[in-house]
Amino acid sequence: MHFAASILTADFGRLREEIQEAERAGVDWIHLDVMDGVFVPNLTFGPILVEAVRRVTALPLDVHLMIVHPERYLEDFAHAGADHITVHVEATYHPHRAVERIKDLGKKAGLAINPGTPLQAFEPLLPYLDLALLMTVNPGFGGQRYIPTSTERIRGLKALRDRLNPGCLIEVDGGVNARTVGEVYQAGADVAVVGSALFNGRPVADNLRALREVLE
Ligand code: DX5
Ligand code: ZN
Repeated sequence: MHFAASILTADFGRLREEIQEAERAGVDWIHLDVMDGVFVPNLTFGPILVEAVRRVTALPLDVHLMIVHPERYLEDFAHAGADHITVHVEATYHPHRAVERIKDLGKKAGLAINPGTPLQAFEPLLPYLDLALLMTVNPGFGGQRYIPTSTERIRGLKALRDRLNPGCLIEVDGGVNARTVGEVYQAGADVAVVGSALFNGRPVADNLRALREVLE
């Protein structure tokens, strides 16, 4: 399983060090949570920060847009250095158009769904996706508890993915820690986003090792 480190709970005053520590520890991607205070009840950052992160790491930048009408900013995030751009199906009238635009920009395209959205929302678009991101908490904040019914949804998504687009990666986001990672992996996740279980004041390498040990 791959790990995408979400910087949401990192110390932004020492963001370069935090990211470089995660890179040295062996995380696979850096996950950037962009929030607009409308789609989710929190605000974070935009392309300027993505650009700054691009300058301090060679790891793939996995940009998760929790913003309404994300098509307005796809080009900006692509130019800022995003490698993957994920939009929410609930945030746009035209998710297929957004996904195609991301690929036209030369980036990997992801689609995300909230915990309250039926899994079937993926069905028409799965053949076009590089990533299918399943939220396992309500988006907006780091450090929330994994919603237990998510495990069945991961299994369902895996079945859909295997049937419609075996090359698409299943990414799970929210509440993944040493207690939940085993279940998430068993259910079929290819990539786990991890925020507070990696950036929490303890060494990232120790935290990552604790997650990997569960999977051995
Ligand atoms: C929630 C974000 C997540 C979050 C994960 O809105 O999409 O990426 O930062 O954080 P943890 O791992 O703390 O749940
Ligand atoms: Zn995220």
